[in-house]
This record gives sequence, C-alpha cells and structure tokens, in this order.
Amino acid sequence: MSNTSYYFILWILCIVPLIHSLTPKSPIQCNKTICTLENSYGTWNDRKTCYALNVTYPTTEQQLRLAVSHVVQNNLKAKIVTKFSHTIPTLSCPLQNNHAFFISTEKYDSGIEIDAENLAVTVDSGVKLRELIDEVEKNGFSLVNAPYWEGVTIGGVISTGAHGSSWWGKGGAFHEQVLEISVVVPASKSEGYAKILRLDSHHPLFNAAKVSLGVLGAISKVKLSLEHRFKRSITFNFTDDNDIENVYMDHANKYEFADITWYPSRHTAVYRYDFRAPLNASGDGVFDFIGFQANSILVPESVRGAGVNVELHSIMLNLISTSRHTSFDPWPNLFSVSTNYILVK
Ligand SMILES: Cc1cc2nc3c(=O)[nH]c(=O)nc-3n(C[C@H](O)[C@H](O)[C@H](O)COP(=O)(O)OP(=O)(O)OC[C@H]3O[C@@H](n4cnc5c(N)ncnc54)[C@H](O)[C@@H]3O)c2cc1C
Ligand SMILES: *[C@@H]1O[C@H](CO)[C@@H](O)[C@H](O)[C@H]1NC(C)=O
Ligand SMILES: *[C@@H]1O[C@H](CO)[C@@H](O)[C@H](O)[C@H]1NC(C)=O
Ligand SMILES: *[C@@H]1O[C@H](CO)[C@@H](O)[C@H](O)[C@H]1NC(C)=O
Ligand SMILES: *[C@@H]1O[C@H](CO)[C@@H](O)[C@H](O)[C@H]1NC(C)=O
Repeated sequence: MSNTSYYFILWILCIVPLIHSLTPKSPIQCNKTICTLENSYGTWNDRKTCYALNVTYPTTEQQLRLAVSHVVQNNLKAKIVTKFSHTIPTLSCPLQNNHAFFISTEKYDSGIEIDAENLAVTVDSGVKLRELIDEVEKNGFSLVNAPYWEGVTIGGVISTGAHGSSWWGKGGAFHEQVLEISVVVPASKSEGYAKILRLDSHHPLFNAAKVSLGVLGAISKVKLSLEHRFKRSITFNFTDDNDIENVYMDHANKYEFADITWYPSRHTAVYRYDFRAPLNASGDGVFDFIGFQANSILVPESVRGAGVNVELHSIMLNLISTSRHTSFDPWPNLFSVSTNYILVK
C-alpha cells in the first residue's frame, strides 16, 4: 500500500465518526441512588458533576404545578432542565445538597395552539424551536426572529434571552415576541404550595419572568406573536474589514436580519445581506447555514507545524435592539472551530 492511500484511509477513519449524525442522549442519567445532569459539551465550566437525588417529567401544566408543589412542600432545591440542556454555564444545576431535584420539560412538549385571527401561538415550554417553526410555517405563519441554533426549547430560549440578529422593530431577541407568559411559582399551603401566574405585558413581573435564568419559577406556557409567512433572501459578502466600525450601522439599518462574521486576524468581514423576500421568490426556503453542520476543519500542515491556529478565530456580530436598548453584541462564534463534532443534528 502506498503512503498516500494509507494516509487517506486513516483520514477517513478519523473523520467519519465525527460527521456521523447522532441522536442526542438525554442530559439526565439516573441510577438507583443519584441522577446526573450534563450539558451538551459533556462537561460544565466548573468541571464538577451536577447531580440531584431525583427527577420528574411532567407532561401537562397541572403536572408541572404538582412538581413545583412537591418541591416547595418538601423544601427541595430544584431547577428546570430541558431535553437539550444547551446552556454552557451551570444555569440548570440546582444547589448541590441532599435536597437537589430536577424538573425536566422533556415530556412537556406537545401543546402548540395557533390563534390565526390574532396572529399568535401558545406553546408548552418544552416544545422544541424546530417543531414550533415547522408547525407555524405549515399553517401559513412565521416567527419574526429566532436564534441561529435550533437545538433549544422555548423555555430555554426565553429564560436566557437567546436571540437572532436584527435591530428593526423590536429587534432580534426572541423574548421580544412574547405576548403572555405563564409561570408556576411557590405558594402558600392553602393554595397547594404552587400556583400559576399568567402575565401579560402590562404586568410588573412580565419582563423579569421572561429573561429569568430559570430562577423565578417554572415557565409553563408562552404566547408568541406571529406574522404571515415570509421567505428570507440571504447573500454573503466576503470582503475587507476596512471601516467595519462605520459600515455596521448602515448594514443593520438597511437589512432587516443583517449580521457580520468578522475574522479580525484575516482582515475579513462577511456581511450577511438578509431580508424578506416574497413567497414566490425562487429558492427552496432552506437555510444551509454551514456554522451548525458537522464539518471537518482543514488546517494547513504549515500552520499546524508552527503551532498557530490563526484560521480558527472569528467573531459573529449580531445586531440586537430591544425597546429598551440598542446594542452591538459580540456572540463568540463557536462554530468555526474544531469543537464542531459535538454538535449533533
Ligand atoms: C451550539 C450552540 C449555539 C447557540 N447559538 C445561539 C444563538 O445563535 N443565539 C443565542 O442567543 N444563543 C445561542 N446559544 C445559547 C442557547 O440559546 C442557550 O443556551 C439556551 O438557553 C439553550 O436552551 P435550552 O432549551 O437547551 O435550555 P437549557 O440550557 O436547558 O436551560 C437554560 C436555562 O433556562 C432555564 N429554563 C429552561 N426551561 C425553563 C422553563 N420552562 N422554566 C424556567 N426555566 C427554564 C434552565 O433552568 C436554565 O437556567 C447557543 C448554544 C449552543 C450550544
Ligand atoms: C450512580 O452514579 C454515580 C454518579 O455517576 C456513581 O458515582 C455511583 O457509583 C452510581 N451508583 C450505583 C449504585 O451505580
Ligand atoms: C423519584 O420520583 C418519582 C416520581 O417522579 C417517585 O416515583 C420515586 O419514588 C422517587 N424516588 C425517590 C428515591 O425518591
Ligand atoms: C461588499 O462589501 C463591500 C464593503 O462594504 C462593498 O464595497 C461591496 O460593494 C460589497 N459587494 C457586494 C457584491 O455587495
Ligand atoms: C411574484 O408575484 C408578483 C405579483 O404577485 C409578480 O409581480 C412577480 O413578478 C412575481 N415574481 C416572480 C419571481 O415570480
């Protein structure tokens, strides 16, 4: 066998397992004595194991209320965990002691009710973003904006303020589309130790309940605003990063879903021209964003030998504005680095 084919086969063996798609395993694993929680990276930033003594999987809002009631009545320390657990910090890890408990929304994921007349949809908090998008699109509607990454649940997106990119209208943050939110909170014994608060935008707790990092209660249902279905036209312009600090303003004002991926060490900016297109515009309506696909990173030998990895750094500049502030948010683009293999589809 020649050297070349030997290396070729080695390469295949190394790469194929990485790009094979896998069904993610549940982030919670229990044995007879303990349950552990992992994030999707398989390790938390403090390198510790996150555990609880037990877990419950409510399937309805009433069961979620009973779960919170159980926690309050028994003085447990609980956090809501989702099917994905894509948080990077230990946000979903309860205080680690003999009273730690997980409430998972993994099986609380069936309700999606569209109110066509009022351009709204009410969803259970465990519903996955992709399932929601598919359902509303099938019925002729679109969500105005969404994070780039679809491996999230509605409860997780809203609790962490996850976002796409836009400073038009209410901006690119997903929670700006929330019309109403229902949260299960602790209550007195006479109220059964837990009650459901239904909060609309006039309620003083409304904003706090949305981006609560999971500490203000268990979100049960969320009502989101919809628009009539639309397509997006997306074109990338790979260009020099000269004047980026001035160009970004025009760019964001001109294109509704604009963003920029900036490669500072290469003096390159990738401007994304992203705007609404009519439904009869040609195209398959599928966004093949390479960022979230498993792809092999080819690092030139010379670069590897020199121990430099200049190719691997980029910054994605999402433009978010909200009714309260306008900001230029550098979201570190994790996806062009070699950690891609952990992203399972
Ligand atoms: C590859 C990747 C790409 C990403 N891309 C983006 C992006 O483009 N834009 C962006 O903004 N973010 C992005 N993120 C971050 C991601 O949006 C957040 O980590 C999000 O919170 C994950 O949602 P989840 O459903 O997995 O929630 P989890 O990680 O399971 O939970 C997050 C927090 O929400 C709480 N929570 C979840 N559900 C409820 C509920 N029903 N009630 C109360 N609290 C609840 C949890 O307790 C926890 O505190 C990305 C993350 C990854 C791993
Ligand atoms: C249960 O899992 C924990 C954490 O992974 C481990 O330390 C413990 O030994 C396991 N116990 C049993 C009985 O398997
Ligand atoms: C764990 O919780 C389930 C209900 O969710 C319950 O049936 C079971 O007895 C609990 N186990 C322990 C050890 O508390
Ligand atoms: C790409 O961006 C540069 C810098 O803003 C601009 O000069 C150029 O015209 C753009 N190219 C296209 C094809 O839009
Ligand atoms: C889309 O429809 C509009 C009118 O509804 C028409 O003017 C336009 O030419 C159509 N575009 C394409 C690409 O078919």
